[in-house]
Amino acid sequence: DYGTSTKTCCCNSDLCVHQNATNPIIYDLSQITFSSATAAYQVEGGAWDCRGPSIWDTYSHIPNKIHNNDTGDDACKSYYKWKNDVELLKNLNVQQYRFSISWSRIFIDGTNNTINDVGVKYYSDLIDALIAANIEPVITMFHWDLPQSLMDLGGWLNENTAIKFGEYTRYIFQQFGSRVKKWIPINEPLSVVQGEFCGDNGAGAPGEFAPHCAWSLYLAAKTLLLAHLEAWKAFQDLKLDSEGGVLGMALNGPWFFPANLTNVNDTEASARAFDFYWGLFGHPLFVGDWAPRVKDRIAELSAKENRTGSRLPAFTAAQIQGLKGSAQFVGVNYYNGLMVTSRTDEEEAHRWELGIKTVDYDTKIRQWPSPEWRQMNASDPWIYYTPFGLRKLLNYIHTQYNISILITENGCMDNYDEDLKDVSRVSYLRGHLMAIAQALQDGVKVMGHTVWSLMDNFEWGDGYSTKFGIHRVNFSDPERARTPKASAGFYANVAKTKMLQG
Ligand code: NOJ
Repeated sequence: DYGTSTKTCCCNSDLCVHQNATNPIIYDLSQITFSSATAAYQVEGGAWDCRGPSIWDTYSHIPNKIHNNDTGDDACKSYYKWKNDVELLKNLNVQQYRFSISWSRIFIDGTNNTINDVGVKYYSDLIDALIAANIEPVITMFHWDLPQSLMDLGGWLNENTAIKFGEYTRYIFQQFGSRVKKWIPINEPLSVVQGEFCGDNGAGAPGEFAPHCAWSLYLAAKTLLLAHLEAWKAFQDLKLDSEGGVLGMALNGPWFFPANLTNVNDTEASARAFDFYWGLFGHPLFVGDWAPRVKDRIAELSAKENRTGSRLPAFTAAQIQGLKGSAQFVGVNYYNGLMVTSRTDEEEAHRWELGIKTVDYDTKIRQWPSPEWRQMNASDPWIYYTPFGLRKLLNYIHTQYNISILITENGCMDNYDEDLKDVSRVSYLRGHLMAIAQALQDGVKVMGHTVWSLMDNFEWGDGYSTKFGIHRVNFSDPERARTPKASAGFYANVAKTKMLQG
């Protein structure tokens, strides 16, 4: 299993990320695009400058919710410094820039009664500048900053939010559809429902967990899928697909290594985890309807609670049909792998109910093939660098869904980069790019790689304490000076040569 490899080079194995100086292997990345990403609330600032409030404005201003009580009021000031950002991107040699549009900067109260021309101009100018620099804009339309006025009406628990999202996306398509070809209506819907209803991964806002997480999570998931469907309908209505546009959804999750490959409970736990994380949204989009494992498990748990029906809300036949094939690619946000085993009923108290347990890999990982991926702080799950998990995941998605994959986020935090030599981030990116080259050879349709993030920014519940940027941002400087870290130089080089030597 994964515990048997040694540190010697294993270049024909899927686990290999080691350099081999005597017999270098060329990792060919010529087929893919290179990119970097940000999201509106995390970088823009200008929170009160011609923009309506979003749930993240509200939440970040509640004392003690965010590390250090940080807010995104100013963030990296990209609302004012976007020209500098375009310069950073030019120096990175990337072909794309993935950024998000703030819904409440376009429609102040979330509806088309409050169109904000100043906000529209901001994004329009950014798009023009990117195109002039030969950098393709890749636009996310919802990266968690739901207009507060829609939250007040129930947010994602109100199906009307899907209709409002449809109106908003239609307007964006009308404004920018002739210039922008790659669209991601929704980013990480799983994080939205987990963060909103289960408090699981620090996403947070609105911060009042619904009393019945177990049903509200799935209800919100359904609304998010219907919102995506509204965007897809608008996209097709405006014939953007026939003009070369492509639209996808950015999903997230780890790769789940079964703790023991020969134990059927562990392999089933890993498959179930895939279906709950990637499949909660992926299955309705690429296969049709909720995944059978999700249906079965929720029905089973509902029965145990003596309910007459399942807590999983059903789709109508028309919704199933509409959703199926409504994404032309899948965006993959991959950060790390997890080792899992199945969880017994007694341990089921946890509210996110997929029935897996992550193995204490602080001990287990010592047996993994590349202990050097373990970085400074052994208690932090972000540090487990598992590029071989990315190769596994890409292959699995390919087999399950047979769909083109755009890696819409990949990166790591490295808070120990005061000298700008973010050694662990360079290793991380290097390992993951090699894993992509291997997946390409396996026959997976990978369109491109996107490093998260272009710069240090507001990392949600962690505020500014967690740093994902390949550029440092000086947050004590009113100008928010940006400085490249070593990883920016590394990435610029790979983006230019489109190959790596291992
Ligand atoms: C996923 C999210 O899309 C992004 O907003 C976040 O900053 C990164 N992961 C890192 O946590």
